[in-house]
Amino acid sequence: MKTAERSKHCCEYYQSLEVAFNFPSEIEYAADLKAFRSALISSNLLSTPFLTIIKGYDFVQGGNMERELVSEKRGYLVITVAQAKEIVTNWLSEIDLFNATQLGLPEVDDRYHIWRVPLCTDAGNKVGEVVIDAYTTEILPDKTTRPEIITVRLLKQDESKLVKRKKQKKEYKISKLRNTVGFGDCVGLIEDMPTESVDLIFTSPPYFNARPEYSEFEEYETYLFKMRQVIKRCHRVLNEGRFFVINVSPVLLRRASRSEASKRIAVPFDIHRIFIEEGYDFIDDIIWLKPEGAGWATGRGRRFAADRNPLQYKAVPVTEYVLVYRKQTDLLIDWHIRNHPDKEVVKESKILDGYERTNVWKINPATGSKHPAAFPRELAEKVIAYYSFKGDVVLDPFAGSGTVGVAAASSGRRFVLFENNFDYVETMQQALPTWKNVKFSSVMWINCKPSELPPEQIEIQLES
Ligand SMILES: C[S@@+](CC[C@H](N)C(=O)[O-])C[C@H]1O[C@@H](n2cnc3c(N)ncnc32)[C@H](O)[C@@H]1O
Repeated sequence: MKTAERSKHCCEYYQSLEVAFNFPSEIEYAADLKAFRSALISSNLLSTPFLTIIKGYDFVQGGNMERELVSEKRGYLVITVAQAKEIVTNWLSEIDLFNATQLGLPEVDDRYHIWRVPLCTDAGNKVGEVVIDAYTTEILPDKTTRPEIITVRLLKQDESKLVKRKKQKKEYKISKLRNTVGFGDCVGLIEDMPTESVDLIFTSPPYFNARPEYSEFEEYETYLFKMRQVIKRCHRVLNEGRFFVINVSPVLLRRASRSEASKRIAVPFDIHRIFIEEGYDFIDDIIWLKPEGAGWATGRGRRFAADRNPLQYKAVPVTEYVLVYRKQTDLLIDWHIRNHPDKEVVKESKILDGYERTNVWKINPATGSKHPAAFPRELAEKVIAYYSFKGDVVLDPFAGSGTVGVAAASSGRRFVLFENNFDYVETMQQALPTWKNVKFSSVMWINCKPSELPPEQIEIQLES
C-alpha cells in the first residue's frame, strides 16, 4: 500500500477515536511506514497519553519504535489495516453490498494468520465479519459471514430461515476422477482439481534441507509456507470429514563447522499447527517404528555411545510420525458408513484381523526403491485400508516413485499422483504396467503423456 495512504489511514483512525490531531505534513505524506514512524517520533506525538497502541499498527508508547509490524515480521501479504479494508471493499462491491455497509476497524489475528474486518450498519451495529487469509489475501468463505446473512441482518429480517437452509441434507459424493499422474508443482495441479473430489490424502512431503542436493528450500519459513499452500489447497479438494495422513519427521541440520552445533528442527509440530489453522481436526499421531539399526546412519548418538557423558545423550531416531487429520465437519464418521451408496463396497472394505491395534506400527523401511526417500508400501497399504473405502480416490501431492499409487491400485482404490521431478514421473511410467488393477491406457497423464504404451498393454487394447 502507498504509505501516504497508510499515514492518512492513521489520521482517520485518530479521528475515529475523536482525538483532535493536527498532523504535520511530514507525517501525512511519509514515504513509507518507517518514515511515518520516524515522523511520529520526531514530532513527539508518541508521547501523548492516548497514543498507547494503534491497533493493527503495533505502535507501543515508549517501546522500540523500530519494531516491525507483526504482519511484516510474519511475511504476510496483507500487512496493513488499509490493505485489509481494500480487499473487503472490493468484495463488498462484487456482492453489491458496498453502499449498504460500513467497515469497522480491521484487526490482525496472528495466531491464525488472518485479518478480521467487522461489517457494520450506518448506525455502527455489527452485522458480520469478513476474514482474510493474511498470507494469501484470500477471503475465507467458511469463516466470513455469508452475504445472505449480512443482507438479512441489514434488512432486520428473520435469520432463522437461512440457518435452516444451511442444515440441508448432505449428499455423499462419489468422485469421478480416474487414475491420474501429473508432472509439475502440486500447488498448481491441485488448484485445477474439482472441489471435494478426493477421499483420502496420504503423502510424505519433501524434507527441509535434510540433504542439500535434495532440498529446494533455503529458509525454513519458505518451506513451511509451501507446506501451507499445499495443505490449504488439499482442504478444498478433500471431501468433507475425510482424512489427510502425513508422514513427517524432525530433520537434522548438520553443523556447518566443528565449532557449531547441529540443529534438529521439529517439523511435525510446525506442520501440525498449519493443519489446525487450515481447518483440519487432529485425529492421531501414529509412530512408525523402524528396526533399531535404521537410525545409526544419522550419526546421532555415536558420540554418547563412545564417551557416555551426561548431557551428551542423544537418542538415535528410529521412528517417524504418521499424523492423521480430518477435514473439519459436523458429520460423524458413522455418517460416511451409513450413507455410502454401495453397501457391498462398505462390506468389502472391512479390515481383517491382524490390523494395527496401537499407535506404534513396526514396519521396515523401503528397500530397493528408485527413490531415496520412498516410504514402504506396507505403510501406504495400511493407511489406505484404514482410512478409505474401496473405489475411493487417494491423492499423493508429493508422489515420488508412486508408492501410494501402487498401494492404492492393489487395494482397489483410484490414485492421483503429482510429482515435480520428471525422473520420478518416468519411474512411475515404467513401473505402472506392473501395478495391479490398472490399465495403462486408462490413466490420465498431465504434462507427461508417455510417447508410447508398453507393448503388453497395446496388445490388450488391440484385442478389445
Ligand atoms: C519424500 S518424497 C516422497 C516419496 C514417496 N512417498 C515415495 O514413496 O516414493 C517427496 C517428493 O516430493 C517431490 N516434490 C517436492 N516438491 C514438490 C512439489 N512442489 N510438487 C510436486 N512434487 C514435489 C520430490 O521430488 C520428492 O520426490
